[in-house]
Amino acid sequence: MSEPVRWQGEADRLAAAANADGTPTRWFEELYRAAADGEVTRPWPREEPHPALTGWFGEHSVDGSAQAVVVGCGMGADAEYLAALGLATTGFDISETALRLCRERYPASAVTYRQADLLQLAPDLVGAFDLVVEIYTVQAMSRSVRERAVSGVSSLVAPGGTLLVITFVLGHGADPQEGPPWPLTEAELRSFAGGDLRLSNLTGHGPEQLAEFHRPA
Ligand SMILES: C[S@@+](CC[C@H](N)C(=O)[O-])C[C@H]1O[C@@H](n2cnc3c(N)ncnc32)[C@H](O)[C@@H]1O
Repeated sequence: MSEPVRWQGEADRLAAAANADGTPTRWFEELYRAAADGEVTRPWPREEPHPALTGWFGEHSVDGSAQAVVVGCGMGADAEYLAALGLATTGFDISETALRLCRERYPASAVTYRQADLLQLAPDLVGAFDLVVEIYTVQAMSRSVRERAVSGVSSLVAPGGTLLVITFVLGHGADPQEGPPWPLTEAELRSFAGGDLRLSNLTGHGPEQLAEFHRPA
């Protein structure tokens, strides 16, 4: 059997094909399946929680009874971190294969891994979480669905809850059409706020930003 090729090139190819035929989210499952079949290396293979997330927990505490969710949990490192802190954690992803790979990677996991589409959320997910963590998922989704993706993430936050968004922000002069990923503009990052969900902090980490939002109880 031949060596798997690097996943990034296949991601570009599959994303372009999916966007061209108007099915902009189908390529995630296709990419993870190609990885599971050994054709490409594992996509987004991070094994450690994102340092901006662990840094945030260095300065904040969350009630031990909190319900947490990781949006587009990918290979699970951030969801596993939250569960290890004792939070009741759901990790959802559009890709069944990504979730299968998570369960294989963390066989003793306390995380509830669940298939869900951010663009068509099941009613029981809406307003259900005290802590919502979104890392790199919206920026991986085509600009054609950006508004719906942003509003889907915000809708997950329960009264009294917190949303953390960790994302790359589009640099000056960068081509907004070039991707994946398609980094958010600062205005798009701020647009997670709406209704009673308010931006409370925006911190730069090099080209990345961590934005924190709160919904009053
Ligand atoms: C760039 S990866 C990031 C994964 C993980 N958050 C990380 O930081 O390593 C984006 C993830 O979002 C998932 N995803 C894309 N569209 C989605 C959707 N509509 N609903 C749920 N998950 C989605 C993909 O399958 C993929 O696992």
